[in-house]
Amino acid sequence: MIEVATLTEFAKDTLEGLSASPKYLSSKYFYDTKGSRIFQDIMQMPEYYLTDCELEIFETKKQEIFSAFTEKDTPCNLIELGAGDGLKTKVLLSCFHDQNAFFEYTPIDISEETIKNLVIDLEREFPGIRINGKVGDYFRLMEEINRYDQTKKILLFLGSNIGNFNESETLNLLNKLKSVMHSGDLLFIGFDLKKDPDIILKAYNDPHGHTAAFNLNLMQRINNELNANFILHNFRHHEVYDPQSGTAKSKLISLKKQKVEIHDLNKAISFEEGESILMEISQKYDVEMITDLAGKSGFEIVRNFYDKRQFFMNSLWKLK
Ligand code: AVI
Repeated sequence: MIEVATLTEFAKDTLEGLSASPKYLSSKYFYDTKGSRIFQDIMQMPEYYLTDCELEIFETKKQEIFSAFTEKDTPCNLIELGAGDGLKTKVLLSCFHDQNAFFEYTPIDISEETIKNLVIDLEREFPGIRINGKVGDYFRLMEEINRYDQTKKILLFLGSNIGNFNESETLNLLNKLKSVMHSGDLLFIGFDLKKDPDIILKAYNDPHGHTAAFNLNLMQRINNELNANFILHNFRHHEVYDPQSGTAKSKLISLKKQKVEIHDLNKAISFEEGESILMEISQKYDVEMITDLAGKSGFEIVRNFYDKRQFFMNSLWKLK
């Protein structure tokens, strides 16, 4: 028997997900060093339209976004949750910098390497902006920021990161964000919109194999960190999209009846041929869903920004 209390969160979640029926794993564990690199490859693929759409919104609407974000002479802290390589945010930072806005930028990410590289890069590019890179859990860090910083906050939750949470997790997340915000603070969220299912499926079932590698890398991580013996080529990536609910699901399918040992969990997991593990959901929204979500979580929509194909939306919300 293993003592569940002594396990890491990764180990506990892995044990819970692979013991469940149907099996699942949490996509928040995709982002080890290798996974973060694969995600960069995904974002550069032409099929993964999300990054280009959000970049287009920032490039074409930065002036309007700036006006909606700022009140004259009111200092603000732009806090980005899951900052990644900051590629898109740089467009906004550059615009704000040119307007002599009084702001600082706090990128937060779970990957230390990502934040280190981002801070070096931004300090070189924008020597005038105060940058406070932080590594770790969004909410713990937000609570910490609240203790010493009472300036107006603008939280950036970009890139459709919200889509990787299910409905109840999303409401829970928004409530937690609310608890670290003050009335009048802003939340700027990227939502991927419902569209032709073929476009969505190509983004998540790409011909380069990056999305498959991204999913399989989590099995490799379990092998490395929990001393397991997943044979990666015994699983295949499979993507499904339901246009009605707007939910895209990434699964790994077991190609044969097999047993996998996870030594650190003292657990053997049996797979039937064709059995799946749900790895990630990527929710796609319509305007009604977004309006409903803002209302249910106590935010007021200030303005929505779209790309020209209306594939993506950045929605600006204010805490009442
Ligand atoms: C981080 N997140 C918004 C990505 C998405 O589109 O759901 C993760 C991803 N998974 C496969 N491709 C990209």
